[in-house]
Amino acid sequence: MSVLLQARDLVRLYRLRRGIFGRAVELRAVDGLSLTLQRGRTLGLVGESGCGKSTTGRLVLGLEAPDAGQVQVDGAPMPPIGGRAWRQQRARMQMVFQDPLGALDRRLSIGAQVEEPLIIHGLPAGPARVAELLMEAGLRPDHAQRYPHELSGGQRQRAVLARALATAPELLVCDEPISALDVSIQAQVMNLLMELQARRGMAMLFISHDLRAVRQVSHRIAVMYLGRIVEEGEPDEVLKTPAHPYARALVSAIPHPGRRGRRILLTGDPPNPADRPSGCAFHPRCAEAVARCRTEAPVLRPRPDGRLVACHLAHAPLLSQVA
Ligand SMILES: Nc1ncnc2c1ncn2[C@@H]1O[C@H](COP(=O)(O)OP(=O)(O)O)[C@@H](O)[C@H]1O
Ligand SMILES: [Mg+2]
Repeated sequence: MSVLLQARDLVRLYRLRRGIFGRAVELRAVDGLSLTLQRGRTLGLVGESGCGKSTTGRLVLGLEAPDAGQVQVDGAPMPPIGGRAWRQQRARMQMVFQDPLGALDRRLSIGAQVEEPLIIHGLPAGPARVAELLMEAGLRPDHAQRYPHELSGGQRQRAVLARALATAPELLVCDEPISALDVSIQAQVMNLLMELQARRGMAMLFISHDLRAVRQVSHRIAVMYLGRIVEEGEPDEVLKTPAHPYARALVSAIPHPGRRGRRILLTGDPPNPADRPSGCAFHPRCAEAVARCRTEAPVLRPRPDGRLVACHLAHAPLLSQVA
């Protein structure tokens, strides 16, 4: 296993103006986030809406520059946005969004859109290559002549995938790829993603608010809260014994017939990245918070079992503190 991409201490601020004469408000969409993507492996990023998942995806792909921190691909910093080196880099990393219709051009045939990246990047193109890509994504060669509105939602997402695969990317960022699809076809697209990831040996960043979906496809999962990762580990481990109180709440909300243990309801205001609480950002909603949680932000660090957790209470006290 080797590292493809490393993001260190990423910060992304958006400046908002409240009202016409309102003062500018700074919103910390991503606030000190680090992650590592291994070649050929899938990292699942999960957290509730607004916690900064999509922003993280854009930073990782170099579609936006971080205000602080750095993204490295193969050990080299991401080239400046818009330059030649950046465009070359972009071919190695593709993105699949929630809304395939928005990602496709309604005026162009599916075939033309799948062929476009081949032409742009000077790769072998033509109908035969397009047909191969369509079939790899589970479509038929004759879908090349169709237009986006003639396909179902699932077929459109397959077309988006065929186009994403054209440049043989080393990394695929999937941002809520099944959230807009009918429940009946979500499983098919999930299976296709897993199949493609394994066959192509791509690294994948799978972003979703749905912990079950993330568990299914990921080799490792990271739980996000207000712009930061609060827990990271092996999917089965995190789901079996979530260590961060927020991760415990997410896991407890998964419907599971016959499961014992009660659903943990989150109290307090929903998180607001324009008004980040002091200390641990989760403390106002945490039933277990102690005084320290209100003043001191916990650092994401490994426990002896290998799990990374950012919670004062999830780490055994150091011997020096006990003595
Ligand atoms: N371009 C933008 N301008 C201003 N605020 C933004 C922008 N993009 C995202 N945000 C804000 O940043 C926060 C994180 O958003 P996002 O990364 O989309 O979260 P998620 O994908 O987890 O729902 C939200 O509060 C969102 O409103
Ligand atoms: Mg999002």
